[in-house]
Amino acid sequence: MDNKNIVLSGIRSTGQLHLGNYFGALRNFTRMQHDARCFFFIADYHSLTTHPDPGQLHGNVKNILSEYLAAGIDPEVATIYIQSDVPQVAELSLLLSMHAYVGELERTASFKDKIRKQPDNVNAGLLCYPVLMAADILLHRATHVPVGKDQEQHLELTRQFARRFNNIYGVNYFPESVPYNFGQELVKIPGLDGNGKMGKSEGNGIYLSDSDEAIRKKVMRAVTDAGPQAPDSPMSEPVRNIFTIMKAVSEPSTIDFFTEKYNKCEIRYGDLKKQLAEDIIRTVAPIRERIADIRSNDKYLHEVTAEGAERARRSADATLRDVREIMGIHRF
Ligand code: TRP
Repeated sequence: MDNKNIVLSGIRSTGQLHLGNYFGALRNFTRMQHDARCFFFIADYHSLTTHPDPGQLHGNVKNILSEYLAAGIDPEVATIYIQSDVPQVAELSLLLSMHAYVGELERTASFKDKIRKQPDNVNAGLLCYPVLMAADILLHRATHVPVGKDQEQHLELTRQFARRFNNIYGVNYFPESVPYNFGQELVKIPGLDGNGKMGKSEGNGIYLSDSDEAIRKKVMRAVTDAGPQAPDSPMSEPVRNIFTIMKAVSEPSTIDFFTEKYNKCEIRYGDLKKQLAEDIIRTVAPIRERIADIRSNDKYLHEVTAEGAERARRSADATLRDVREIMGIHRF
């Protein structure tokens, strides 16, 4: 990473962030902010494709914003902004949509998934979701986009749109943005329900705003199995998941201790979970306290978002001036 690189990532404002978001995204963001020019935004336009409740939108945006800041993203270093504060992205999305084919949008995995999940609300916003996401990225001509596996197809489309734009207009304007995760395997945090990853909508998560008691309760209820039947037997998925979370929050010696117990068939899952709960609390409690402080400080949130919007708009305006000119839109 050098400081010519431009990093951009966003999180949709739906619900609250969990441990998976922290280890998979936020913690990486805080590390990258010192190595490149970074934009981190809250994708509230995107959230409208699935959560169009006006009464909840602002609170949801406020949650993610507070969580970004509590996790350590420094608004003096990185640009933090709300997507809808920079409506230039909507114009870029419109312009890019002229070169996005309906067929390729219909074939996107996330779109097909939404058709299954919300057959009564297959709106055009869902279809154009990848175009808006490409606009988010290309608005600042970002070179590196820290995202998880589930977003890689969207990023592939972003590169496709960038290449196509450059080809059609005979320019070398948009970069081909690549996924980037701080040069290391992404830590994937599984859920506590025995299979799959921790997800905002799976109901299997530990939230950064959870109380100590809530964390203990959730962890103690985590799915396990009947216990190892022979020494050194392979772990079932639910048990492996518990160890995976442990690797993110516990000391290596703790993990060694319980791995050995498991291998000797001496493990007591109750003890394992108690230890895991305390180690999660050690990570989450200070973040939770910062979230609460920040969330109640409207003046600070106003300052951060006003400054972020201003910086993001400046970058967006420069891009749109170029794109309009490239496409032949000239002022009289
Ligand atoms: N689609 C992303 C998600 O659901 C959120 C997002 C919107 C995003 N625009 C982006 C991520 C631009 C990275 C870059 O997680």
